Amino acid sequence: MYDYVIVGAGLFGAVFAREMTDAGYKCLVIDKRPHIGGNVYTEKVEGIDVHKYGAHIFHTSDKGIWDYVNRFATFNHYINKPKVNYKGKVYSFPINLMTLYQVYGVTTPQEAEKKLQEVRVTIANPANLEEWILSQVGLELYELFIKGYTMKQWQKHPKELPAFIIKRLPIRLNFEENYFEDIYQGIPKEGYTFLIGNLLKGIEVRLNTDYFSDKEHFNELAKTLVYTGKIDEFFGYRFGELEYRSLRFETKLLEGNYQGNAVFNYTDSEVPYTRVLEHKHFNFGRQKHTVVTWEYPDTYTRDKIPYYPVNDEKNNAMYRKYEQLARSCPGVLFGGRLAEYKYYDMHQIVGSALAKVKAIKAQKV
Ligand code: FDA
Repeated sequence: MYDYVIVGAGLFGAVFAREMTDAGYKCLVIDKRPHIGGNVYTEKVEGIDVHKYGAHIFHTSDKGIWDYVNRFATFNHYINKPKVNYKGKVYSFPINLMTLYQVYGVTTPQEAEKKLQEVRVTIANPANLEEWILSQVGLELYELFIKGYTMKQWQKHPKELPAFIIKRLPIRLNFEENYFEDIYQGIPKEGYTFLIGNLLKGIEVRLNTDYFSDKEHFNELAKTLVYTGKIDEFFGYRFGELEYRSLRFETKLLEGNYQGNAVFNYTDSEVPYTRVLEHKHFNFGRQKHTVVTWEYPDTYTRDKIPYYPVNDEKNNAMYRKYEQLARSCPGVLFGGRLAEYKYYDMHQIVGSALAKVKAIKAQKV
């Protein structure tokens, strides 16, 4: 008998299991995949940590969360500076003074601001993503960086998408190319699987084990179930199926230095992939060989991995019904990106698992 059966050996499940084990509770972690780590999993290929489910860079401004993850792995000093390739030309990204120099030839913040004022389209109340971007940077930058990439990623025209999807994208009037603005940033030197392995040290983990293959059995094994899988699946899709976008990865082992940077975004709609990753650059690798991954957006079906929730009004309303049901589900705790139907960065997942543990401990006192 266990105190907690935790469905999912991803970041949420691993932090929760570590904290509860350290507090004296007996935990069992199960995962249907053949490995721990969920989407942060890295696999060593010829000494290179390959980010199997897309580029993962840890970033946070919360010192508590940074100190927490540093207890389980040493982080390198990687700073994410992706580049854009549009029709064979390379641009600095996110949009900054270097980008504006490359596109317009402007060299100072004053010139750049003047140019932006000229090219911005006046739209009083931008109603969708296209209008919002046009109102911020005008047609040329929109077509160079946003239009094709967004159409590939979401399989929808930017006119059909809400502005909030991209409001996170910084537009800078300085030469700063660091994609994130957080104080702390890096990647575990030994990969994320090493970090998750340390979190799960001494805890029973069963891989290749789907909760739904025998859910009555797993429910009986513990007083409390912690579920980090898809919430609609947990409730038998009774209100319908929540939509996701998926991804498909093609990976090759090559010789040398393929693109000179860890991440390149391909923003032209004619190119079918959205990103190319060269994994050794995430860890300043100087190996003779290299591992390169092409990332293609893909339609989600149940046999694929759900990557990005489609948080439009229809899906959010459906999620709220599931959330309501989850609130009155005794003995089950829901957590993580799939159970909450929300895009979360890793630091937010760590924060939410620690907050859940804190709330449970406070109740038990
Ligand atoms: P996660 O999906 O990792 O874990 C859930 C686990 O539950 C999975 O292992 C799954 O197999 C298991 N499971 C589900 N159903 C089950 C069942 N029925 N039975 C058994 N097991 C079951 N964040 C960041 O901070 N920096 C970054 O650079 C990136 N980059 C990035 C790129 C891409 C392409 C994506 C999609 C996401 C990111 N992220 C990110 C976000 C990051 O991936 C995310 O925060 C964490 O992986 C979420 O961890 P969870 O544990 O919630 O889910």
